[in-house]
Amino acid sequence: MQQSQTQNPNDLSLDQARAEFLSLQTQLAAADQAYHQDDAPVLSDAAYDAAKQRYRALADAFPALQDEATQLEVIGAPVTSGFGKIQHAHRMLSLGNAFQDSDVSDFVRSICTYLGRPKSEPLAFTAEPKIDGLSLSLRYEKGRLIQAATRGDGSTGENVTENARTIADIPQQLVGAPAVLEVRGEVYMAHVDFAALNARHGERGGKIFANPRNAAAGSLRQLDAEITRARPLRFFAYSWGELSEPLAETQTAAIHRLKDLGFQTNPLTRLCASVTEMIAQYRMIEEQRATLGYDIDGVVYKVDDMALQERLGFRSTTPRWAIAHKFPAELAWTRLEGIDIQVGRTGALSPVARLAPVTVGGVVVSNATLHNEDYMAGLDSKGQVIRGGKDIRIGDWVQIYRAGDVIPKVADVDLAKRPEDAVEFVFPDLCPECGSAAVREEGDAARRCTGGVICPAQAIEKIKHFVSRKAFDIEGLGAKQLEMFYEDPDLAIRTPVDIYRLAERDAGQFCEA
Ligand code: IVH
Repeated sequence: MQQSQTQNPNDLSLDQARAEFLSLQTQLAAADQAYHQDDAPVLSDAAYDAAKQRYRALADAFPALQDEATQLEVIGAPVTSGFGKIQHAHRMLSLGNAFQDSDVSDFVRSICTYLGRPKSEPLAFTAEPKIDGLSLSLRYEKGRLIQAATRGDGSTGENVTENARTIADIPQQLVGAPAVLEVRGEVYMAHVDFAALNARHGERGGKIFANPRNAAAGSLRQLDAEITRARPLRFFAYSWGELSEPLAETQTAAIHRLKDLGFQTNPLTRLCASVTEMIAQYRMIEEQRATLGYDIDGVVYKVDDMALQERLGFRSTTPRWAIAHKFPAELAWTRLEGIDIQVGRTGALSPVARLAPVTVGGVVVSNATLHNEDYMAGLDSKGQVIRGGKDIRIGDWVQIYRAGDVIPKVADVDLAKRPEDAVEFVFPDLCPECGSAAVREEGDAARRCTGGVICPAQAIEKIKHFVSRKAFDIEGLGAKQLEMFYEDPDLAIRTPVDIYRLAERDAGQFCEA
């Protein structure tokens, strides 16, 4: 990367040091951009770390350079202000909540009363998942996307038009739409994309997002739209604001119209003819929750007939014609029985909580991630206090957060319940897999095994990555087989190259049992 990296900084003149420093700064910024935003690293971890170390060494030796150093350290940080404001043509409202089945019958009864309809006269409702993301209003004029705004306080939102344009689910141009059409819906992040984003950030000491909703919000609200582009955001359309002409006579038909115009609409939306059918759809969606691949936090019921929606109107902040039937929270408390260290592909040592099994949102959880040693100590990747600075010890009562199939995490600890014999965890400085030194470089969130491929854990994880769908996509060579073949004295797949030495063998051997 930089030729003079071997020269002692103290032997350089200030001018020489500045030249090298600024060059490193440019190269590191490009590497950060490639890694965090483009998902396409241009440097190996080792080369990146060496460059960063040299950069810091120069800044230490020449304090005059430190003022110029700040620019690099803030790259990738979320931006939370600085957007223009947009006044919504129609207010963006929230929804009233139902927590029990009886709240749903009350909601339907109150609507019948308001409309003066006898209970015997059937009233149709749509039932659809309540997406756990952030709402966005998209304004189209003559079919062209001209403005995108967050909800803000409901009356005024932030102008995130350029960011919204980077989201593949959001059409830029519509054919056959009303001349003025405000489409509203939810921006969200799928579980796989969330996990990949956090894994990348975890390895490079970037921000770890607490859940997909925070990740989606942090990604949409970036002043640099190119950062948003590199974050895999998605969008479901479920509502509208100002319209120059009605979309349809029913909610169902309006949603079909939005789908025909090119928006993603939720496939689990159903029309229900009674409270019994509404609750049945709620249960059906709840059962599918863990496998949907994105977070939902309830089911939204809406009166299907638009003329009736109009008659029902709004209370101060919520419509009378819709309600959110919320799922019970996916949080649970349990005892932390132990902490294991897993060694990943890049040598990062990851602490994993072994838990007394507990049901969280309908799934039994006995392991959860503790991210890294700072997280366990009550600090985030920037050294800021999280959880009120509470550290996590073996024996503690811990709160588990699980969302869909995202790896469960330890979110909180109850100090009032900390037993006297709770054990502080000492992070190992030797790799538990190969005994090599495990070193934490300055600025790195992870402590890493220095064993490279002599470390069996790193070697196996590297081969797993090599065969994975994202890399060489070698079918039938799964985790189980790779672990077996690594140990097998005859097959001995110890590096990706070894896979190609198996060419003469019967391919059938590799098929999953
Ligand atoms: S309808 C006038 N449908 O939930 C009502 N909202 O708690 C317009 N949300 O602000 C909203 N999924 O951000 C509606 N299928 C869905 C939704 C949904 C998620 C959000 C939306 C709203 C919040 C209210």
